[in-house]
Amino acid sequence: MNTRVLTGITTTGTPHLGNYAGAIRPAVQASTQPGVDAFFFLADYHALIKCDDPARVARSRLEIAATWLAVGLDHERVTFYRQSDIPEIPELSWLLTCVTAKGLMNRAHAYKASVDQNVAKGVDPDDGVTMGLFSYPVLMAADILMFNANKVPVGRDQIQHLEMARDIAQRFNHLYGRDYFTLPEVTIEEDVATLPGLDGRKMSKSYNNTIPLFEGGANALRASVMRIVTDSRAPGEAKDAESSHLYTLYRAFATQAESAAFRKQLEEGMGWGDAKQALYEHLEALLAPMREKYFDLIANPGRIEDILQAGAARARKLAAPMMQELREAVGLRNLNAGTAAGKAQGKKEKGKGARFVSFRDEDGGFRFRLLAADGEELLLSQRFADPKEAGALMRRLQSEPADSVLQASSAGYAAMVDGVAVAAAPSGAQADSEAQLARARDALASLSQE
Ligand code: TRP
Repeated sequence: MNTRVLTGITTTGTPHLGNYAGAIRPAVQASTQPGVDAFFFLADYHALIKCDDPARVARSRLEIAATWLAVGLDHERVTFYRQSDIPEIPELSWLLTCVTAKGLMNRAHAYKASVDQNVAKGVDPDDGVTMGLFSYPVLMAADILMFNANKVPVGRDQIQHLEMARDIAQRFNHLYGRDYFTLPEVTIEEDVATLPGLDGRKMSKSYNNTIPLFEGGANALRASVMRIVTDSRAPGEAKDAESSHLYTLYRAFATQAESAAFRKQLEEGMGWGDAKQALYEHLEALLAPMREKYFDLIANPGRIEDILQAGAARARKLAAPMMQELREAVGLRNLNAGTAAGKAQGKKEKGKGARFVSFRDEDGGFRFRLLAADGEELLLSQRFADPKEAGALMRRLQSEPADSVLQASSAGYAAMVDGVAVAAAPSGAQADSEAQLARARDALASLSQE
């Protein structure tokens, strides 16, 4: 029972050391854990909300993709893609928009901050506020709910967006009467370093205090390290490691033993100039091999493009059937599905006729449903711990005569395999269960003839 971990990176900037330590490194690390299916994507639709400079968006997508691959993301194992390569995401975003209360969006921090600034300036409260900014949390909910993510690692500033994603998912599930969406959980990495920047404040592009990760090469790295602010203690004087940003930075990239040795040198009076040189050399040793891969990738954008397109194809294998189910749920259905001609056509077009769909329930168990061509639920299975068991039963049900498999029962009817009811009429199914049983038998029979 794998856990789906999903996160997105807005493509507006160039990755710096703080992004690496705070987000990229822990995410890549998490993706190697057993039992984890990781989904990492470039949130390039989100980039358009903040940035109307096409060159910058384009460059940032390239740099961020190259960075993740260069630091060791295994694209065979992780589903790594661009948001804008998945047309199902904006499509889902619209379905979600239609169930999202405007009042919920009014409370979003990012939007409220813009309004507050406008009010303080004495201009129109919505000055410069686009619908993109206003609806930002809905698009983010679509990113997450599309793939039924269980865990979403993000920074603290995103906690509210995750709460909104859960709200929106619950609203949709409630309105359309079924648990279409898994409720995602936020994960905040408590012990991951928030790196100080050159001036000691949090390293952030908006403070203009960042240390570049790869761009500019060793020279830019060294030049930045030399600009880190220190106190005025002279060489020979004991330094207080704990209050030094230099030490905090060093520690984020060193083993305990290395940090202890560095700390001792500071306490024994190492000059700040030497300390900076030591930090630079330590970082350079760590980053140089990754940087080489990075520039190699940047020089071969076609390779990155291929990797991202393969990732998108994998992601869409999940997104397309999910979206199909959601379209049916809201009533965007094939008009012809109920007619004889439609049924014949439906058989030819995979996914348009009766079908089994498997899903994970809220407790992480695996279940499946039998749906009629028009999307009506005809059977709901028991829950299984092992998805293979559920899969084997779906095949088994199709391989046996529908009339003997589906039998009337106290709950209406049930699908029997070796004397065990493996699936039953969904609760709250139509009162006329005999007609319903006939429909279920028809649907199952149509599958076994295929
Ligand atoms: N809003 C996120 C940020 O700025 C990026 C993002 C977009 C995201 N979609 C997401 C993160 C989905 C996690 C899940 O950091």
